[in-house]
Amino acid sequence: MATPHIGAEPGDFAKTVLMSGDPLRAKFVAENYLTDVKCVNEIRGMLGYTGKYEGKEVSVMGHGMGIPSICIYTYELYNFFDVDNIIRIGTAGALQDNIRARDLIFAVGAHYDSTYGQQYGLVGCFCPTASYSILERAVNKARERGVRYHVGNVFSTDIFYSDTLDRYARYRDFGTLAAEMETSGLYMNAADAGKNALSILSVSDHLFRKDNITPEERQTTLTDMIEIALQTAVEL
Ligand code: HPA
Repeated sequence: MATPHIGAEPGDFAKTVLMSGDPLRAKFVAENYLTDVKCVNEIRGMLGYTGKYEGKEVSVMGHGMGIPSICIYTYELYNFFDVDNIIRIGTAGALQDNIRARDLIFAVGAHYDSTYGQQYGLVGCFCPTASYSILERAVNKARERGVRYHVGNVFSTDIFYSDTLDRYARYRDFGTLAAEMETSGLYMNAADAGKNALSILSVSDHLFRKDNITPEERQTTLTDMIEIALQTAVEL
């Protein structure tokens, strides 16, 4: 059954979906890494594809920017398209001194300033967390590849253009690795649906010093992250 945002049929998605904010990155992954590719969504340009990687069926799709957007798509994938595992392949702004542009971050948990979780009526503060079985596999792949990576918490914020860096500095002081805009929502939707999720993030910039990659590099030079996510998907 097609949903308002995903024009696919039941069975069009694999059990594991890689998702990036930019739908063109999803297209890049489908065209460069998958075989037997079928386009399964084009609504609002949020391109989605299903194909095979090393013989295993895998899907890849965009999720847009921010928690409202990722939560619409991931809710529908988990609840209406029988998807079990979602691996976000995104970008983040580093907060810690020892983290450089292009390093990979595996998000164990995600702090947030979003009100998304208020709908659940949970007493206290819910702690959105990665699925350990996927996290462990993905971190092992990064270690085997010898890439620079960090494993820890991120800050999922609704604010990209912030008047002040103070809010990031406080999270930095509490050991948070990076800021991005979707992971807490993804992890909450996974918990709510009883499914699995992981965010792998490539550092695109540093919030406290100049250390940027270009938009072209964002789209095309994220090879390590993409391959780690695909190799992890094959094992799920
Ligand atoms: N803020 C939020 N999300 C981001 C950033 C940032 O500075 N950089 C990359 N994703």
